[in-house]
Amino acid sequence: MSENTTAHTGMHRDITAKSGDVLVSCRGLQKSFGDREVMKSIDFDMLAGDITVIIGRSGSGKSTLLRAIAGLTDPDAGTMTFDGEVVFEDAKRTPAWKQVDSHVGMIFQSYTLWPHMDVLKNLTLAPRKRLGMSESAALERAEQALAEVGMSDHIHSRPSELSGGERQRVAIARALMMRPKLLLCDEITSALDPPVAAEVLDVLRRLKEEEGIAVALVTHDMAFASKAADRVVFFHQGEIAVNATPDDAFNKTEDPELKKFIDAVRF
Ligand SMILES: Nc1ncnc2c1ncn2[C@@H]1O[C@H](COP(=O)(O)OP(=O)(O)O)[C@@H](O)[C@H]1O
Ligand SMILES: [Mg+2]
Repeated sequence: MSENTTAHTGMHRDITAKSGDVLVSCRGLQKSFGDREVMKSIDFDMLAGDITVIIGRSGSGKSTLLRAIAGLTDPDAGTMTFDGEVVFEDAKRTPAWKQVDSHVGMIFQSYTLWPHMDVLKNLTLAPRKRLGMSESAALERAEQALAEVGMSDHIHSRPSELSGGERQRVAIARALMMRPKLLLCDEITSALDPPVAAEVLDVLRRLKEEEGIAVALVTHDMAFASKAADRVVFFHQGEIAVNATPDDAFNKTEDPELKKFIDAVRF
């Protein structure tokens, strides 16, 4: 594997996966907490540039999978590759894991912005510290990232001066500072009113279309899932029960649990 290290940005190398290539591949991922098996041998692939919507009941293992892909929790067994390199096997991360750190961003439901810093500082803190980015380069990138989420006017606002939807857009912009190839979003719109949630989700759709960023998101927003998803993944009791196109998942599934789930959320 050629090393194309650029110390300035901290990026190990560029991603070679093109739209439609496998970006993340998980095989046999297992995770237990005590005697509770919350991931039971998960096989899961994500293609570069795809939007994957993950649905399922509370407690079915959705967050655990995203956290495992982000490196916030380590599976007990299984393998994971990222852009063709093995990043996790034999219950531990390999040296290639740094690809994941460089190219994967995660955003959560609760706002994780620093309340005592303005938006600009929230965005530039990690790139300045972790990547050693210069102040002017960080400013330029922050301006770009805020433009991408439609928040340019708020560069000097404090988080307390922003609405919930605006904060989540800033949280997305902060993730964009690292130029991710994959964004993992865990119920990022669950605390927002439906129209505001739709605006935030629309930002993700544009990032996919304009930047080719892959998105895996856990959401209960079935309208977004059927409109914008390339794949719909339905979790049930620690297993992926269905992995299909939105049309197949929502209109043609024979899976009894998915049918029940859809009936429960359909209005
Ligand atoms: N750190 C943890 N310690 C113990 N149990 C956990 C931990 N994280 C998750 N779990 C349990 O694992 C199961 C799956 O959780 P999670 O992946 O968060 O589900 P979901 O996101 O689908 O609601 C739940 O029963 C949850 O209580
Ligand atoms: Mg969850």
